[in-house]
Amino acid sequence: MKIVVIGPGALGCLLAASIAIRTDHEIWLLDHDPDRATQLSKRGLLLEENGHRLNCPIKATADPAEIGAADIIFLSVKSHAVAEVLSKVSFLLSEKCLLLALQNGIGHLDILQERMHSNCWAIGVTAQGATLTGTGSIHHAGRGISRIGFLHAADDHASVLLKKTAALLNMAGIETETVPNILDHVWDKLLVNVGINALTAVSGCQNGELPESPSLRKRLTDAVNEAASVARAKGVRIGADPVAATIEVCRATAKNISSMLQDIRRQRFTEIDAINGAVVHEARLLGIPVPENERLVREVKNLEAHFIP
Ligand code: PAF
Repeated sequence: MKIVVIGPGALGCLLAASIAIRTDHEIWLLDHDPDRATQLSKRGLLLEENGHRLNCPIKATADPAEIGAADIIFLSVKSHAVAEVLSKVSFLLSEKCLLLALQNGIGHLDILQERMHSNCWAIGVTAQGATLTGTGSIHHAGRGISRIGFLHAADDHASVLLKKTAALLNMAGIETETVPNILDHVWDKLLVNVGINALTAVSGCQNGELPESPSLRKRLTDAVNEAASVARAKGVRIGADPVAATIEVCRATAKNISSMLQDIRRQRFTEIDAINGAVVHEARLLGIPVPENERLVREVKNLEAHFIP
């Protein structure tokens, strides 16, 4: 098969490297930056895993036309880049190719529903822990299950492609299952991100510090409970105790710098609109008060407004 990974961030590089070293499929990485793509093609990716450093040869390009028809496309760009990327790669998409979108939050769901004309797209959430340590270099810090599924009723052909995608990921060492209720899993992950990402970004702390501080723990609890009320009002079947689940993730990833804090430190726009911002948006439609999420959105946007140009 010809596999394309769009976006050389931590998750994109982890997927491309794992597929490159553990399967015989042709793997391409699509980057928006032509110089970096040339560098990645020459050097390959460097995967640091279980104390080993593995060189993973890949083809990389900034020109989607160079890739041609693909079988599976992993879309692993930030949520706010989804609309633009989809318009650039539209000619790669066909009924024969499955696009799997792997973003944090829920901001990308409406965009995919509006822009994808074929039935051949799915979404996924992953609990893999990967950190980008340099261009094309990733540290694979933790393993966790990935779940993939359709938001719409898919035909037989798309279902076969989804199963092939799960098989490919499992062969690459990324434990994956197909699920019929992917939206529930997306919201479960969203609730964890609602409680951790913005709060670590505005407090400048590691994930493990949130439950230890009474004031931060209260803010985490309020933010997650507000988002959980929105999920329940929408009929999403979230886990029984999302606050406990979020605190468990804080402890399991205690030394992590959350992706949003990493973005703030690198002065890159965050995924706040797709996470707490999306909760605020949904809450307004339903008339549910979400003051803690509104405060987190304001605080993160204030940090973004002070980036040095
Ligand atoms: O975005 C992140 O950083 C991660 O999803 C998580 C689970 C919050 C751990 O840092």
